[in-house]
Amino acid sequence: MSLGERRILLVIGGGIAAYKTLDLIRRLRERGASVRAILTRAAAEFVTPLSVASLTGDKVYQDLFSLTDEAEIGHIELSRAADLLVVAPATANLMARMAAGLADDLATTALLATDKPVLIAPAMNVRMWEHRATRRNLAQLQEDGVLVVGPNEGPMACNEFGFGRMAEPLEIVAAIEKFFDRGDAPQALATPRLASPDPVSAPVTGPQPLSGKRILVTSGPTHEPIDPVRYLANRSSGKQGHAIAGALARLGAEVVLVSGPVALPDPAGVEVVHVETADQMLRACEAALPVDAAICAAAVADWRVASNADEKMKKQPGGEPPSLRLVENPDILATLSHHASARPRLVVGFAAETQNVVEFAITKRIRKGCDWIVANDVSPKTGIMGGDANTVHLITGGNIEDWPEMSKQDVAQRLASRIAGELNATTMTADDMDWDQP
Ligand code: C5P
Repeated sequence: MSLGERRILLVIGGGIAAYKTLDLIRRLRERGASVRAILTRAAAEFVTPLSVASLTGDKVYQDLFSLTDEAEIGHIELSRAADLLVVAPATANLMARMAAGLADDLATTALLATDKPVLIAPAMNVRMWEHRATRRNLAQLQEDGVLVVGPNEGPMACNEFGFGRMAEPLEIVAAIEKFFDRGDAPQALATPRLASPDPVSAPVTGPQPLSGKRILVTSGPTHEPIDPVRYLANRSSGKQGHAIAGALARLGAEVVLVSGPVALPDPAGVEVVHVETADQMLRACEAALPVDAAICAAAVADWRVASNADEKMKKQPGGEPPSLRLVENPDILATLSHHASARPRLVVGFAAETQNVVEFAITKRIRKGCDWIVANDVSPKTGIMGGDANTVHLITGGNIEDWPEMSKQDVAQRLASRIAGELNATTMTADDMDWDQP
């Protein structure tokens, strides 16, 4: 997609990942966007204003006070003469100052003065990313309508490994294209989402209705290898499954989360088993039994390659492309639902459909033998796949409940409280819990 005529104000924060913003500018400009850059004082230690100016083809903005000069563009105008503000790398410090609404340099002043949507690409040490203060700031920013891309998991400049690597320039470009494609962020800003507190940082100080209960959750996609470097996959982000695991843990459950490959941090207080394939996911689920409830939110690949190659498959000049023979993967939901010796008391499946959502889900519940099914429309127009909101229908035997559109966190809390009600045979609502910070 072209970004022709889109105006991006890029706020470059002071982290080692700042060097990647040079490539980001190049990628944005080759797609037709114009890029204007603000460098924080620390960012100028990592990239030179000259390199940034050469790539943007514009002056680089660094000093708040020089902008008060009548000859200069004012900071208000600077922040508003853009279609989107992108903060990359969004350091822990910059995120904290944004969340607090500080305006103590040009970058934060422009971010506070803007009426335009803001996308941040966090980058920091994994411990800083996982720190409760950062989780809190992230939750605040998301509640304020700020969009987030990344961070990714991997080795870090500080020799540690984990989440905190800035999203790659092309991933940030994809997030920007998706934003302009959907054009939804201005609404998100106009009506800030009343998102639930971040699942990682917000402990429940209220009742713990699931204490003593053990619950299995599956989440994310599976990757089915074709050869050592290629695989079959799908677009599941794992956001919904991970949110459910976190919400159940906050209600006191002992949660085992079996997760396919996702770019999400492990939810706090949850035992996470990381797997790649459907076969591995099934084995990990069986190893977790017995459980009181199983929530299968993973988007398990229906098929895998019958025999994957041990060596990388080579393209032969003029040769025929290879054909892949697929075989069916085990159905984890059906296996748990029909388990002879350790069937969980409550088995909940998900049905992601692109048409006839509820009808297909009703038949799926019966076919798979689960108790409840959560149905949602994942056709591309909904933006649910990978997005933060969800509109679901809960099918419990004879009952169909149409839940209004809400964040995936809110779906998770509501479902967790329903599960607590079912396992305790008393119904609690999400409103009964105190999700506030202590
Ligand atoms: O058949 P479909 O993929 O639409 O079913 C969705 C439900 O089944 C989800 O709950 C998913 O986690 C589960 N499932 C599974 N194992 C599979 C395929 C789907 O557990 N192989």
